[in-house]
Amino acid sequence: MLKDTFNRTHDYLRISLTDACNFRCVYCMPNEQMKFMPAKHLMQANEIESIVKTLVDLGVKKIRLTGGEPLVRKDAKDIIERISKFPVELTLTTNAALVDDFIEVFHQAGIRSVNVSLDTLKRDKFLELTKRDLFDKVWKNIQLLIEEGFHLKVNVVVMKGINDNEILDFIEWTKNQPVHVRFIEFMPFDKNQWNSSKVFSFQEVLNLIETQYSYIKIKDEANATAKKYKPLNHEGTFAVISTMSAPFCHNCNRMRLTADGKMKNCLFSKGEADILSVLRNQEDITPIIKKCVGQKEKALGGQFEGDFHQIDTNKIDNRSMIRIGG
Ligand code: GTP
Ligand code: 5AD
Ligand code: SF4
Repeated sequence: MLKDTFNRTHDYLRISLTDACNFRCVYCMPNEQMKFMPAKHLMQANEIESIVKTLVDLGVKKIRLTGGEPLVRKDAKDIIERISKFPVELTLTTNAALVDDFIEVFHQAGIRSVNVSLDTLKRDKFLELTKRDLFDKVWKNIQLLIEEGFHLKVNVVVMKGINDNEILDFIEWTKNQPVHVRFIEFMPFDKNQWNSSKVFSFQEVLNLIETQYSYIKIKDEANATAKKYKPLNHEGTFAVISTMSAPFCHNCNRMRLTADGKMKNCLFSKGEADILSVLRNQEDITPIIKKCVGQKEKALGGQFEGDFHQIDTNKIDNRSMIRIGG
């Protein structure tokens, strides 16, 4: 079992398959001309399989594939098939643009739940935020996921003055469809134009929803990032991921592998452990994994604490979101 010095068991692994993406979301990617990692720096399918084997032996029970956009990777199908052979809950976070090509692959791999990133329900706003005119395709694929019986969580990064005026529309969506909408507080990463005035906080989300809907608190999953609620008589639910105003690090069970094979013990960790180089040297990767987990800070990578309005983004040392994988 992988435990850190705060006695937190780490059994949830997030693997970024690529830092490439078919969208250009402003809050995620530093700029349009971003250079993606050269293929030889990426973990190859057999290398991912080998690292996963070691981590499963060390107690990992849940694996989430992320990106960039995980499904743009040419061998995504092969990687999903390889990981599905392990006794883990396998899932992924995707922008859904390519999901229709993968429905059978997901079923075969035993994937039951998919998280989709969607920050607006309006076609023109979608184009503005993602720089791609693909709202209709994404919407169709979301409907396909629901029809095919997947548990569907929708991630909405809420940015003040940009899409906070759609929160109630997202709640309305949950009335007749079994979607689980999660409003995410905007987080600071390398060159993503974050500032505290753009954060629409957990409390502000609840205050707004209360003006129109009655809802009850429902039970959160163990180690959850999201605080969940159910509007009365709605098929779906909503939740808030409150990293900035109310972090949930005390029961964190997550570790991350970047697409270039570096382990991050926290979304905000400064340090990274170069697992892939150790593997390519044909050495045992267990000691470096244990050391990395053992170095985990108590909260937020030790990079900020207290009131998020006081954060100085110049002092945060991290990758951009697209290079971490979320
Ligand atoms: P579940 O496994 O379904 O709970 O999903 P998840 O919330 O872990 O993953 P997802 O990829 O859907 O991410 C949703 C949001 O939560 C994104 O903004 C992530 O960056 C954020 N998130 C995911 N893991 C962590 C974490 O360990 N710490 C913090 N602070 N945020 C996280
Ligand atoms: N703040 C909060 N969430 C973010 N995501 C990407 N960038 C940010 C950010 N700056 C979300 C995406 C995706 C998930 C993996 O992370 O919307 O759903
Ligand atoms: Fe865990 Fe770091 Fe996320 Fe906190 S910020 S929940 S410690 S990964």
